[in-house]
Amino acid sequence: MNPQSSRRDFIKTTGTAAALAAGAQLYATAPARAAGANDKLRIAFIGPGGRGFGAHVKTLAQIKNEGAHIELCAVAEVYSEQLDKVADFIQKENGNAPAKYVDYREMLAKEDIDAVCIGTPDHWHALQIIDCLKAGKHVYCEKPMTKTVEESLQVVDAWRSSGKVMQVGVQSTSLPVWNQVRALLQEGKLGKVLQFQTEYFRNSNMGQWRYYKLEKQMTPKTVDWKRWLGVEEGLAEEMPFDRAVYAQWRRFWPFGSGMFTDLFVHRTTSMLKATGLRFPARVVGAGGIYLEYDGRDVPDVATVVADYREGVQGLINATMCNQESRITQCIRGHHGSFVFGNGEQFDSFQFIPERPQVTGDSSLKEEQILVDTPPLNKVSTTYLHFKNWLDAMQANDPQACNNTPELGAAAIAAVILGARSYREDRVFYFDAETGNISDGNGDWAKNWEAHSQARKPAQHIPGWKAGDKGSTLVEPEYMKLAGPWINGQPPQQG
Ligand SMILES: NC(=O)c1ccc[n+]([C@@H]2O[C@H](COP(=O)([O-])OP(=O)(O)OC[C@H]3O[C@@H](n4cnc5c(N)ncnc54)[C@H](O)[C@@H]3O)[C@@H](O)[C@H]2O)c1
Repeated sequence: MNPQSSRRDFIKTTGTAAALAAGAQLYATAPARAAGANDKLRIAFIGPGGRGFGAHVKTLAQIKNEGAHIELCAVAEVYSEQLDKVADFIQKENGNAPAKYVDYREMLAKEDIDAVCIGTPDHWHALQIIDCLKAGKHVYCEKPMTKTVEESLQVVDAWRSSGKVMQVGVQSTSLPVWNQVRALLQEGKLGKVLQFQTEYFRNSNMGQWRYYKLEKQMTPKTVDWKRWLGVEEGLAEEMPFDRAVYAQWRRFWPFGSGMFTDLFVHRTTSMLKATGLRFPARVVGAGGIYLEYDGRDVPDVATVVADYREGVQGLINATMCNQESRITQCIRGHHGSFVFGNGEQFDSFQFIPERPQVTGDSSLKEEQILVDTPPLNKVSTTYLHFKNWLDAMQANDPQACNNTPELGAAAIAAVILGARSYREDRVFYFDAETGNISDGNGDWAKNWEAHSQARKPAQHIPGWKAGDKGSTLVEPEYMKLAGPWINGQPPQQG
């Protein structure tokens, strides 16, 4: 796909920000439904395709059948075959016929809806989230929360001013392990935290994401293509209908950002949850299309290096053409590391201490730390994540979600700036106070050098409670001999 037709360029001319603002206004006056304590929570769906149907609809239908006081009340979908399939499923599974829409705005305006699940491709997320929040609905939106960093900040603003509950769909954030890890890190178990490393390797004989099938019934008659593209909203340029774009949009920049947003965002969010870190300060990305020459835009080998102002580096790395020799997920500190292996579900993780010569503590031994794991053979992480969302709505507590928009935006900043760095050959600085993105200018290294010259103490992850544990250096006796010789005279001995 021609990079000239990328959404970034398109935004400049048609103004996604304007579309977001217009969408926001459309529902600014819509009242939130005053739900009584005994009312059912009425949940609607936008874009229940692969994930939206397979996870959102099916999980919530199951939870309803387990006795939850919810109703799957409406579906908006631009592919008529899918709309009917999802509505039929709900009817069969839960016994009610949901209202059907092609235009989700009609659904938001007309229906008596409390909450909306968004499962559309990435380029739609920001606008639909903001429309839902402004219409007074709680939201569950798939990862990546948005397509751009700027949109993610707009979503955080809209969420804060709405007072609504919003869950971002990185389901692994509902595993208790990350809270457990964060508590240990804050107590200083690893000493000064220096680096996290994560991955999402895959391999496929047909090219990543080409396993999503093109089907004969996908035609311009069954798919409202203009609405899928979001032409009127300025989300993508008009282009001819193509089943490969419809079903395999992840391969093309205007709709997704390949592994950066499809995969890296999962594990990066977990690492942010584990460390308590949020926005990166400096991001670079690298990679290329080294094998998968199938017309795709997005790289098949990529790495993001995100540095944080707390003095921690995040390394995110994968190929889409090899998965049997993955780098392992770990968090490294001055006195030891936590090693998680690969994937998201562990019964335990490993603590590996550094040598006693460094730690000064010969009692530190390698150990396997058991994880407080829910019975994942019985319930999926997605199930836990939806339960968390339902609980947060019941408590009407926007901070109770395991993946709030604040965490969603922080993960977006790392992975999207990584993708942009690769595409634009730039190093990015991100100012978390202002949301300003600028080009690197050499200040990053200079600041750390100044820190070192001034012998300042180490900086720490948020919530650090361990004083200088594992965070200082031993000054060798002979360093007393250091210092500049002036006029042939040795430095004054202290
Ligand atoms: N959390 C996870 O593990 C996970 C897994 C898979 C996908 N996802 C995310 O879910 C999202 C969807 O991915 P998918 O694989 O299900 O894609 P998909 O193409 O299978 O489904 C998207 C659906 O949205 C519909 N749609 C598009 N624009 C619409 C609009 N304006 N209004 C209504 N419907 C519209 C499409 O017709 C399609 O049915 C992506 O953001 C993806 O990153 C998350």
